[in-house]
Amino acid sequence: MKRILVTGATGQIGSELVPALRKRYGGDNVIAAGHKKAPQQSLIKEGTYITLDVTNPDSVNTVAQQYQIDTIFHLAALLSAVSEKNPQLAWKVNMDGLFNILETSRENGCAVFFPSSIGAFGPNTPRDDTPQDTLQRPNTMYGVCKVSSELLCNYYYTRFGVDTRGVRYPGLISYETLPGGGTTDYAVEIFYQAILEKSYTCFLKQGTYLDMMYMPDAIHAAIKLMETDASRLKHRNAFNITAMSFAPEELAISIKKLIPDFEMNYAIDPVRQAIADSWPRHMDDRVAKEEWGWEPQFNLEKMTTDMIERLTKKLAS
Ligand code: SER
Repeated sequence: MKRILVTGATGQIGSELVPALRKRYGGDNVIAAGHKKAPQQSLIKEGTYITLDVTNPDSVNTVAQQYQIDTIFHLAALLSAVSEKNPQLAWKVNMDGLFNILETSRENGCAVFFPSSIGAFGPNTPRDDTPQDTLQRPNTMYGVCKVSSELLCNYYYTRFGVDTRGVRYPGLISYETLPGGGTTDYAVEIFYQAILEKSYTCFLKQGTYLDMMYMPDAIHAAIKLMETDASRLKHRNAFNITAMSFAPEELAISIKKLIPDFEMNYAIDPVRQAIADSWPRHMDDRVAKEEWGWEPQFNLEKMTTDMIERLTKKLAS
């Protein structure tokens, strides 16, 4: 990796991946590409920021050539709840966007990182210790796009030799940028509300266990996977990775230890509950550990402490 393009740079992952990559590879070598959302100041100040519509093949190709890109972290996509509201747009952004990135990578010799998700599994996938290789029949547009994307990335690797790699991210928790319309968003919103209001109304019901991860681990995973010697990888798209699995009431207990007067209420959103009920409770991520040394640093307690400390400071400034 010498010249890197990050699409979806203004999003929840991108806004933290770009600074991490710039620290490692130099500000001038990491091009941050957003689309409609206004970019964070740091994205503009610390390197090149561009506007890019990933659904336009010519624009993607032009950017790759103009900046002599050799690696693309392709993060631009719609999340699960938004995709259910507008499945046609989800297909266009999530699938046409990826296709354009893969074609450009084939033509220009770029490596590609693709973030798949727990959403790539469906209701008849084993929900506990979900194996790396298992049944994937999701019933959401987001999930259909994620499975198709995993297959398309594998196809471009075996058919054209494009160096595609990916992980299946669980719900991601971070204080820098809010996620935009996912099913696991409650695990981020809860911290804002706990600090500002001392109460939160959760849209998923008690007992809804889902895999989760703190953003520093998610960033570390993306960079580590892309830096791994290709000869170590038997799988490519996409590796199960997880750091913790909890239900909403367990996260509330963890927060209450630090904010004792915090209270949790529930008002269930049937659409997001149905999505959550079709996803794994806990993935088996041993293959990622074996093939490229994946190891998370943050468990529930450590993540909660760090989130509250950093978000409190952020909200006070
Ligand atoms: N966090 C994502 C979502 O909820 C899942 O990958 O849509």
